[in-house]
Amino acid sequence: MASSFTKATTYSLSSYIEITHSYHFVNHIFDTEVANLADLNKLYKRCLAIVDHSVYNLYGDKIKKYFKAYEIEFTIRSAYITEDDKSLEALQEVCSWITDFDILRQESVLAIGGGLVTDVVGFACAIYRRATRYIRIPTSLIGLIDASVSNRVAVNWNGMKNRLGGYHEPLHTIIDPTVLRTLLEAEIRNGIAEILKISSCTHIATFEALEQCGHTFIEKHFGHSKVIDQELVEVAETVVRQTIQSVLEVEVPNCREQCLDRVMYFGHTWSPVLELAVSPPLLHGHAISLDMCFSATLANQQGLLPNDQYMRFLDVLDLMKKGTSATIATRDRKLRAPVPTGTLGSHAILQTEDDDDELEATRASHKEVMKQQPRKGLGPDMNIAIRAEERVAQLQKSIGVSLSVYFLNS
Ligand SMILES: NC(=O)c1ccc[n+]([C@@H]2O[C@H](COP(=O)([O-])OP(=O)(O)OC[C@H]3O[C@@H](n4cnc5c(N)ncnc54)[C@H](O)[C@@H]3O)[C@@H](O)[C@H]2O)c1
Repeated sequence: MASSFTKATTYSLSSYIEITHSYHFVNHIFDTEVANLADLNKLYKRCLAIVDHSVYNLYGDKIKKYFKAYEIEFTIRSAYITEDDKSLEALQEVCSWITDFDILRQESVLAIGGGLVTDVVGFACAIYRRATRYIRIPTSLIGLIDASVSNRVAVNWNGMKNRLGGYHEPLHTIIDPTVLRTLLEAEIRNGIAEILKISSCTHIATFEALEQCGHTFIEKHFGHSKVIDQELVEVAETVVRQTIQSVLEVEVPNCREQCLDRVMYFGHTWSPVLELAVSPPLLHGHAISLDMCFSATLANQQGLLPNDQYMRFLDVLDLMKKGTSATIATRDRKLRAPVPTGTLGSHAILQTEDDDDELEATRASHKEVMKQQPRKGLGPDMNIAIRAEERVAQLQKSIGVSLSVYFLNS
């Protein structure tokens, strides 16, 4: 008897999930009278927080007091993760902390720190039991306006930046710019590079705010230094909010990177290789500044951008080549280098294939342009070695208290 069933050779399936994720703008998040963080943890009456080591030393006691006040059982782990060891080992250590905590299926891990901690903890949560919930509180400028606006989580692997990772949205992100008070000036300068990245390609008013107030933002910690500058706080808050909005506008519709023509690649075309090519690694903001700088010269050579903007000199010809081929390999054989165009505030994506002659010619003229810039284009605090040296002096200047205990611990 003939079967009444037909045998299909292909089943095509598609399914959709709704991802919800909130950004909360809350100042002084660790003050006991501010209930937002407690509210997010009240269901299970306990919380595992994984906290950047500097933030732990500066705010740890305050955070412990906070949870005690709300009678939430609190476990805190201090994470010392540098760019050099944003690694599988760090990832496994975070996973073992989550295991020790015996986390329930729908409980959330709380990640508090800069881009390093939120990237590693986010990735641990992405793979722990295939997906574990988490909440982020970014504490560095890069974290506030970029790393914690992203759903991309990762670790470095085999000398390659962010090579192993995933997409894993947290349940909540809390944006509290008052934490910038304790951030080193060099780290604020570092973060401004990411604001420059997105604003120069999408939002001219933010770019202009940087032109006008960039130095003051750095010097006065976005208005949150020892003496609060309310006027500056308001301008800075607009810049932070607008930057987050600009990033969300371009990233959310492309949240799984189905489209590789991403404006967020501006500054990230060659920098993933540059950043780890020296030891100690370049600060992320410096690596992307070098890249943006070269991209601007490229735009200029292509007739897309007048020759005016960028201040840093790049002398890494061989690395640039390595960077080009590494980038092309991850962007379906095209460079897809985003560059700012016109009078800024707009951008184009250069689809160039691997054309060494053209890039070589651009590199040569880029070097000449950079030689004319202050310090011949070299940044004042180029790599992460400055962190240890400047930490004492700058933190004492910015928060005006003795930090001997902090430095003994760190
Ligand atoms: N996921 C993404 O889309 C994305 C986007 C941008 C950057 N990133 C990643 O982020 C990382 C860089 O992040 P980062 O620049 O925040 O570095 P980071 O996490 O190392 O933080 C910078 C430094 O500031 C200290 N710190 C943080 N908050 C502080 C505070 N409030 N007060 C005092 N000190 C504080 C940290 O201890 C550290 O020494 C890179 O690995 C980069 O790849 C990821």
